Amino acid sequence: MVSFFYSHKKTSAVDQRAAGSETMGPDAMGPEAVGKTRVTIRVRRFNPESAINSKAYWQDWQIFARPSDRILDVLKHIKDDYDGSLTFRFSCGHGICGSDALRINGKNRLACQTLIKDLPINKPITIEPLKGLPVMKDLVVDQEPFFAAYREVLPFLITDANNNPTTERLQTPAQQMRYEDTTKCILCAACTTSCPVFWVDGKYFGPAAIVNAHRFIFDSRDDATAERLNILSGKQGVWRCRTAYNCTEACPRDIQVTKAIGEVKRAIISDLV
Ligand code: SF4
Ligand code: F3S
Ligand code: FES
Repeated sequence: MVSFFYSHKKTSAVDQRAAGSETMGPDAMGPEAVGKTRVTIRVRRFNPESAINSKAYWQDWQIFARPSDRILDVLKHIKDDYDGSLTFRFSCGHGICGSDALRINGKNRLACQTLIKDLPINKPITIEPLKGLPVMKDLVVDQEPFFAAYREVLPFLITDANNNPTTERLQTPAQQMRYEDTTKCILCAACTTSCPVFWVDGKYFGPAAIVNAHRFIFDSRDDATAERLNILSGKQGVWRCRTAYNCTEACPRDIQVTKAIGEVKRAIISDLV
């Protein structure tokens, strides 16, 4: 953690304190800078409770970072050392919990999996909240609409009340492979919030909900396929998808999201699973 250059485009009480601390960071030429590169981090800020500025604005920090630093490290560095009011979400730090999906240089990615060396540093690195969900503060969005759609598709195993085997519900490897890909979802919302249909149409369940329906629709042990297909053939379901593929490109788990949506569409048409 080396030199810190602060540029405040809009001010708040916290911003003004930080602006006064320009000379407090370690010397850019000091030992802390060794092996690091100066990077401009441009963050979309928003504080609905600010008495001074309750509109969204960009704020820049110049920091020194290693090529191997992750965007999550950079955000923590800024929060810990320069502005404790910077608000973002994370938990596991290792690509498992799905809580730190952000729009980084215009693309949805996990902050904990995005390395400085994989981004161009000759211009500012922009970090914004996910698009299409209400922003609560800075980089934190309200995930409730996303999880409401997820709940709609019954994302859990449902078995017939009369189907009570006395042994495990066995599957062949081939049966398991039928839905293996969609079990990898970590509910990060990167796919849904990259979908242009979701941006303009708040009624679309979105790709993540369909992926999680797919996971059970194609599970040979599940008995609620017809119910789920009925839900997904409704006006909030798969027919709103325009095969834009943004979702597949955004998925940090490399799930074939558009393919899964296509399989659900075919299952609805053919009544075959
Ligand atoms: Fe995230 Fe991929 Fe799941 Fe979408 S399908 S929520 S991008 S893990
Ligand atoms: Fe949207 Fe993915 Fe379909 S981006 S339009 S859900 S293919
Ligand atoms: Fe858990 Fe990034 S912090 S996925």
